[in-house]
Amino acid sequence: MTTFITVATLSELGPGMTKRVTVSGHPILLANVDGQVYACDDTCTHEDSSLYLGCLKGALISCTLHGSRFDVRSGLPQEEPATESLKTYEIQIEGDEIRIDPNPRT
Ligand code: FES
Repeated sequence: MTTFITVATLSELGPGMTKRVTVSGHPILLANVDGQVYACDDTCTHEDSSLYLGCLKGALISCTLHGSRFDVRSGLPQEEPATESLKTYEIQIEGDEIRIDPNPRT
């Protein structure tokens, strides 16, 4: 059975905003794309840069180090040098709470 963990609130993550949270010592990026919240790994798959530092445009987060962009909905890289996908996580919204399944989707 999946146990969802509350990691943030909707009131602190408006549309177009990102937030980095730590779940079991693992950095995860939350992104609000047009009112829908998505979660993926915060660490770029190219090297170890935090994607939280980058800019969210639509559903694409850009890495500040070498410019790769990832779709936060799927975790898929859209631009090299990164070629590996980010893991993504299921989100539940309950009232104002953003809850996450700490186990990545397979
Ligand atoms: S560390 Fe992100 S593109 Fe290189």
